[in-house]
Amino acid sequence: MNLSRKANNISGSLTLEITAKANRMKSEGIDVVSFAAGEPDFNTPKNIIDAAYKAMQDGKTKYTPSSGIESLKKAICNKFKKENNLEYNINQVIVCNGAKQCIANVFLSILNPEDEVLIPRPYWVSYPELVKLADGKPIFVDTKKQNDYKYSVDVLERYVSSKTKAILLNSPGNPLGNVYTRDELTEIAAFAKKYDLFIISDEIYEKLIYDDCKHISIASLNEDAYNRTIVINGVSKSYSMTGWRIGYCAASEKIIKLMNSIQSHFTSNPNSVAQYATLEALTGDQSTIAIMAKAFDERRNIAMNMLDNINEISYIKPQGAFYIMIDISNLINKSFNDIKIKDSLAFSKLLLEAENVAVIPGSAFGFENYIRISYATSSENVKKGIERLQAFINNLK
Ligand SMILES: Cc1ncc(COP(=O)(O)O)c(C=O)c1O
Repeated sequence: MNLSRKANNISGSLTLEITAKANRMKSEGIDVVSFAAGEPDFNTPKNIIDAAYKAMQDGKTKYTPSSGIESLKKAICNKFKKENNLEYNINQVIVCNGAKQCIANVFLSILNPEDEVLIPRPYWVSYPELVKLADGKPIFVDTKKQNDYKYSVDVLERYVSSKTKAILLNSPGNPLGNVYTRDELTEIAAFAKKYDLFIISDEIYEKLIYDDCKHISIASLNEDAYNRTIVINGVSKSYSMTGWRIGYCAASEKIIKLMNSIQSHFTSNPNSVAQYATLEALTGDQSTIAIMAKAFDERRNIAMNMLDNINEISYIKPQGAFYIMIDISNLINKSFNDIKIKDSLAFSKLLLEAENVAVIPGSAFGFENYIRISYATSSENVKKGIERLQAFINNLK
């Protein structure tokens, strides 16, 4: 019997698949270094866990409004005001099952068949698939080295068409960790105004930012940018709450209403207990964020110093998030035990088999000849994993 053409056209998340394989190997007792996961290795801070425990004991275990509890929506509005200089009322925000569901809801709410969405390449794995699920068409914008792999308006001009509906922005970005400056954002906002596009701004890595970089929400630049931007954020990365599945989104009341209608049928409310935990995350002690960000920064420096000493490869220096994209183009077509490495997927598979190091092939992000490592793992693991990478490279012929 025929199955859905649309579903058949969607690829599963390679990131989640490789992470699961590395975890399976670990549970079999194999000493795996996993650079695959897109999540902090810290446990969720205790005050947040305690708030969840209390919520359960207080009987907050029932359905909530599908868009989220009012106290959390108020806390989200306060967060936007205080940290991003953005003024929203509670009808302009929605709480979803992770930022991922926010993004799915956004595309389902704004796209009609064949509408195009500009997506920077390399891209986070789920953007194109979520656009396709909403009957839209992802248009990949090839970014350039001289622009630090960020959008530039002269390049964007080549991809925009009468069908373009939205431009997707992800700063700090996954997989590159690149961060847009105020000037760069101002140019993108003007471009979106010129072609009357929605801006979808995924700011999930906002708090994981290094060197002297500063996060600016494009929606805060001016009134026009505010009106056309849909801001995506969440607690997965900043508060080490990936498993709780809470993300949130702010936009015009009209868009949020549509997103809520969709969500009310798909999942109803996000997990009630996780919503109370998120309320504590946003309103309680914030000190653990800086502790985590500092640890990631130290690991980033360890990783970069070690990678600097491997001649055959180079990497793109990240300014945010917790990933490094490593250029392996010099190693393509080399052989490991007489097996020719034809692409980044083959490299990643052989590295896992030979040295028990899990990485994500660049092809998952539309960026062949690269691999992505995540340094959201202990310094010892970072060192051990890169030593093994070096050993693997030394054995290539
Ligand atoms: C760029 C980006 N956006 C969104 C998400 C989704 O986050 P969440 O766990 O809140 O669904 C991720 C997770 O990897 C991500 O890297």
